[in-house]
Amino acid sequence: MEHWSELYREHLARLNERAHEILTREKLAGMVIHSGQLHRQFLDDMDYPFKVNPHFKAWVPVVDNPNCWLVINGHTKPRLIFYKPKDFWHKVADVPQDYWTSHIDIQVLTKADQVAALLPPDLQDWAYIGEHLDVASVLGFGWRNPDAVMHFMHFHRTVKTPYEQACMRQANRIAVKGHVAAREAFFAGGSEYDIQLAYLAATSQGENDLPYGNIIGLNQHAAILHYMVQERKSPTLRHSMLIDAGAAYMGYAADITRTYAFEKNEFHDLIQAMDALQQEIIGMMTIGLSYVDLHLATHQKLAGVLLQSGLATGDEQALIAGGVTKAFFPHGLGHMLGLQVHDVGGFAQDERGTHLAAPEQHPFLRCTRQLAAGQVLTIEPGLYIIDSLLADLRNTGAAQLVNWQKVEATRPFGGIRIEDNVIVHESGIENMTRECGLVE
Ligand code: GLY
Ligand code: MN
Ligand code: MN
Repeated sequence: MEHWSELYREHLARLNERAHEILTREKLAGMVIHSGQLHRQFLDDMDYPFKVNPHFKAWVPVVDNPNCWLVINGHTKPRLIFYKPKDFWHKVADVPQDYWTSHIDIQVLTKADQVAALLPPDLQDWAYIGEHLDVASVLGFGWRNPDAVMHFMHFHRTVKTPYEQACMRQANRIAVKGHVAAREAFFAGGSEYDIQLAYLAATSQGENDLPYGNIIGLNQHAAILHYMVQERKSPTLRHSMLIDAGAAYMGYAADITRTYAFEKNEFHDLIQAMDALQQEIIGMMTIGLSYVDLHLATHQKLAGVLLQSGLATGDEQALIAGGVTKAFFPHGLGHMLGLQVHDVGGFAQDERGTHLAAPEQHPFLRCTRQLAAGQVLTIEPGLYIIDSLLADLRNTGAAQLVNWQKVEATRPFGGIRIEDNVIVHESGIENMTRECGLVE
């Protein structure tokens, strides 16, 4: 507890310094961050699951309470206006009392529409940060998500404080327990749905606690990048499983993928080759290196894997130039990770938000930053048999470089992705996922 309290204190001080700098620069009195509001389902009396504003959970680990507000001026203690209505229908959140609460002033709000009484009296020089712009207008905020403030916060959010890094280590620890249980369920013959249940039980998370919907694909389903179905029935023939599943801790995400072959066969060897490739890419990570260059290096290494496995012939350059590696690996190498699974700031080159787009040839790459200490990223190379992309490739001159028989033999296994979560430190790279015990 001591440890978390100290980490949080430092984290909050850092956020307050950042807030002070941008508020002074923009001549604002302060900012008010809204946790959000519930969204009602059409023609129903029920709401969608609540998803908190990421800017709000950056300051306080309150992820499940709408109608809360944070009043921040960059020099005094942040003030949390905590919503605790009189409501006998629902569970009402308790006013928090934890390692972090002594660092924050807390006031209770019992009626959501009476927040004005607890906000500063004149909001002309204050910025509203949140989703509900109409609410901000009614309350009289002079500024709503001003660009200069948003760019500044998003850029600086890509450097994680030691508190945030500790939260993400913990998220990895939880997710790794789930991956171990999922692997056992796969080898025990479970269906995709059985594996999902094993994962949820081992991580003690409900579906709405997850930072994203788990992807659990058996056999050919492993080739569908965002496969969100979970078949209740086990396939008669069992070849492979791709599981991309995470966990959240204090609002911070883990995002981990593993692929397994049911038997020790050529697909198993291919997984091992991709695992080695992924480790080599992580081994190349060093401060100042461009993430785009890492992505391009992945294509180079993937060409090597295609040649070695017999999926393609020719030379590495021809496979890259002919679009062969892109047909097998169409997505980006990875992304920033944090309060959101695809965390903000991947393209921002400075605190003004100067955007560096992904290279035209690689439109799905989500990060063009140079590596810097404190960044947390995923590294997730893949190799898939995606029929639509391979059909396009077949109509090009590069088709002769592909061993189509081998493609056919690999199709029932779907594909491979290996995804770890890493922290860039001055002293080197920390692979949280492997250090939490998920070694393969
Ligand atoms: N789970 C989504 C991703 O890996 O980016
Ligand atoms: Mn993932
Ligand atoms: Mn990812």
